[in-house]
Amino acid sequence: MAFVSTTSVLFILFISISGKSIPNSYIENRINLIEREVDMQLGSELVLNDDEKLANEILMHWKQKEIEESFRNPQYFNFSKHYFDYKNDIPKSKVYQIIRGMPKGAVLHVHSSLMLSADRLLNLTYENNLYMCKNEIGDLQFRFSEDIPKWPCHTSWVLLSDLRSLGDATKFDESLKNYFTLFSGSSRGCDKIDINTIWRKFEKISNVISQLIIYRPVTEKFFYEALNEFYNDNIQYIEIRSGLKSLYELNGTVHDKLYMPRLYRDVAERFKRDHPDFVGVKLIVTRHRLKTDEEIRKTINLARQVKQEMPSFLAGFDLVGQEDLGRSLSDILPLLNEAKNDLKYYFHGGETNWYGTSTDENLFDAVLLGSKRIGHAYGLIKHPSLLMAVKQYDIALEVNVVSNAVLGLVHDVRNHPLATYLALGLPVVLSSDDPGVWGADPLSHDFYITFMGVASKRADLRLLKQLAINSIKYSTLDIKNKEALYSVFHTKWDVFIKQVLTLSTNL
Ligand SMILES: *[C@@H]1O[C@H](CO)[C@@H](O)[C@H](O)[C@H]1NC(C)=O
Ligand SMILES: *[C@@H]1O[C@H](CO)[C@@H](O)[C@H](O)[C@H]1NC(C)=O
Ligand SMILES: *[C@@H]1O[C@H](CO)[C@@H](O)[C@H](O)[C@H]1NC(C)=O
Ligand SMILES: [Zn+2]
Repeated sequence: MAFVSTTSVLFILFISISGKSIPNSYIENRINLIEREVDMQLGSELVLNDDEKLANEILMHWKQKEIEESFRNPQYFNFSKHYFDYKNDIPKSKVYQIIRGMPKGAVLHVHSSLMLSADRLLNLTYENNLYMCKNEIGDLQFRFSEDIPKWPCHTSWVLLSDLRSLGDATKFDESLKNYFTLFSGSSRGCDKIDINTIWRKFEKISNVISQLIIYRPVTEKFFYEALNEFYNDNIQYIEIRSGLKSLYELNGTVHDKLYMPRLYRDVAERFKRDHPDFVGVKLIVTRHRLKTDEEIRKTINLARQVKQEMPSFLAGFDLVGQEDLGRSLSDILPLLNEAKNDLKYYFHGGETNWYGTSTDENLFDAVLLGSKRIGHAYGLIKHPSLLMAVKQYDIALEVNVVSNAVLGLVHDVRNHPLATYLALGLPVVLSSDDPGVWGADPLSHDFYITFMGVASKRADLRLLKQLAINSIKYSTLDIKNKEALYSVFHTKWDVFIKQVLTLSTNL
């Protein structure tokens, strides 16, 4: 209702400024038009209680201050710069500090092997028996082994601990970390390069990390640590996307591909026991979209097996990898159509700027194949009929703003189509895709940048709360667990509001 009072003030000002020269009907129409839009925005249906209203005033005080400063001095406006150039300044923001402490419900779009920060990954390279070598093009290869690995390698296999003790361990670790992240302190080398080049860098990092974390004891530590980082960012539930990899043991034993989902499920159960206010994890099985029909069919069949064995753990199926270069959904249609009654789909769709291409048209197939949610949906803005379909069928859009910025789709987040999705009140959830790769918070950076750089200056606490509620609403939890998640969330929300009230606006 804060909006109503703001517009009423405007109304009075208008009359006194304009005197008789502007008819009252014009002024009334103007107010009605603005109010109609405000009422349409995501979050506008929420009614705040008294404490929340006070917290909202504090939040909006800081939001308006930060935005007005930038509006007057656009040369200092951070969100039109590359994420890497302002990332380290984010913690200074009062709005960020508030958002950081906010319970955010669920993360519904994240690739499990890219969840963990480079610092934590580096920590895993201190595990014993880790060998390293470089291939022809200088990429790292990792292998845990009792003896020198038998695997072919361009350079020779050397124990990583030996390499580290040869010289300056800190320098060694810094250079190793560069293989785990795109972030190197600034945007140098990452801005202004074309989308295929940045994706190549991204996929390289993804390969290096995969090699480190498919050693079974490390997989366990890795996943537990990843859940911990998300939990500490005030996240209560996660739906991870993951390929099914064959994990191995030190003695060379290789597990079958169902071993990995079992291990993920067990680690998630252990994490839940250790943290009773964490509600859990579900799995969306993925396959790379460059694979052949036969390879994709195998993974679909494995996903069916996971569903049979662990029905409450499996959420569904998706295809991953750069959409522009990979196969389109329509290319794989017979397979996907056949399995659509067995598996729920959560397709990536329209993660592209190429309007009218097969990548862009993945959005049509995602809707027609009954995808429960759509990953990114960046190109959806250009498809009026799909915008209506998404609203009508209540298909959630999993929007990942920082990912889109880092992977080169948008250079000034004020131009992100999410602004329109929020204005239209579409079923949006915010997520972070691969936060480990760009050194983002598990979710707080995406929330902060959306709130300050994408959403309207008028958007307030109700938007933030609605986004968190949406993440629960559009999760694939059954009714009982959804209720449990809502209950944990609301308890944490009340504590959060009390915390905000202890902040003074005069700090
Ligand atoms: C932008 O970054 C600068 C530091 O470069 C920081 O002082 C400032 O507060 C930031 N502005 C916003 C709006 O976040
Ligand atoms: C790695 O992380 C664990 C858990 O945080 C910590 O106990 C351990 O000391 C770390 N190891 C190294 C080598 O930093
Ligand atoms: C290999 O190691 C795993 C895990 O330690 C163990 O369960 C398995 O029995 C071992 N296999 C052989 C052939 O030694
Ligand atoms: Zn993704």
